[in-house]
Amino acid sequence: MRKLLAVLAITMGAVGTVQAQSEDLRSNADPSAGEEMAASCAACHGQEGISSVGSFPNQAGQQMSYLAKQIMDIRDGHREVAQMAGQVDDFSDQDAWDVAAYFAEMEPNIGQAEDDAELLARGQELYRAGDIGLGIPACSSCHSPTGQGLGTAVYPALSGQHAEYTVSTLQDFAAGERHNDPNAIMRDIASKLSDRDMEAVANYVLGLH
Ligand code: HEC
Ligand code: HEC
Repeated sequence: MRKLLAVLAITMGAVGTVQAQSEDLRSNADPSAGEEMAASCAACHGQEGISSVGSFPNQAGQQMSYLAKQIMDIRDGHREVAQMAGQVDDFSDQDAWDVAAYFAEMEPNIGQAEDDAELLARGQELYRAGDIGLGIPACSSCHSPTGQGLGTAVYPALSGQHAEYTVSTLQDFAAGERHNDPNAIMRDIASKLSDRDMEAVANYVLGLH
């Protein structure tokens, strides 16, 4: 028993240390240091963090905690992005937070949803209420009513994101090709969305702000 308690104390101490370290990285995040490292990102993610290609995600105004997590996940191979081979391999955790802070400060994209009444209605329904019959929760409960996400919980913003990217990343979650979501939360939800539902919700969040 005493041994078990000792192991628990050590484990809890280690978890506490990791959290404290991540808190330090976040509070030391320096957007101007990030700017220098982000020069090579602009080719795909845009000079202002808004990309001109639908399959390259916008980053401007994205939650800093989410961006830092994705950069580290891509670096560590927890999320495979072939196009980013070599881009972030040498980043330290602090570099990831610095670049994340740089993108997070930028003005987010204001998108325009496709004006298709039926598509919009279904997108709004899924986003705000989910679909109880299909076991789909409301997206707004985590991604926030305005699509800004929630930084403290590492829930990303979806607002103004290219619909093409949103659909493709939902497809990747559904197929398990993207698998860096904690507790498989998005893999579970995406697997319940039809192609048409993915299109509807992606169109809705593009215009949401
Ligand atoms: C050659 C193009 C290219 C370059 C250069 C590039 N990226 Fe990416 N990046 C992509 C693509 C494509 C994706 C989306 C992959 C997918 O569909 O999962 C992506 C995804 C991301 C994501 C995840 C975004 C999200 O919403 O989940 C982050 C963060 C990111 N890149 C950061 C960077 C940083 C930082 C740099 C520069 C150091 C960089 N990228 C350079 C193409 C690029
Ligand atoms: C219980 C909370 C929760 C709910 C409900 C939820 N999400 Fe998510 N979502 C997350 C988390 C957490 C992530 C980030 C996963 C990671 O760390 O890679 C995410 C990521 C995403 C992404 C990827 C964003 C990017 O930039 O790559 C999309 C798209 C998305 N969610 C769409 C949806 C849609 C559409 C719904 C509703 C049908 C929904 N989510 C409901 C928690 C949630």
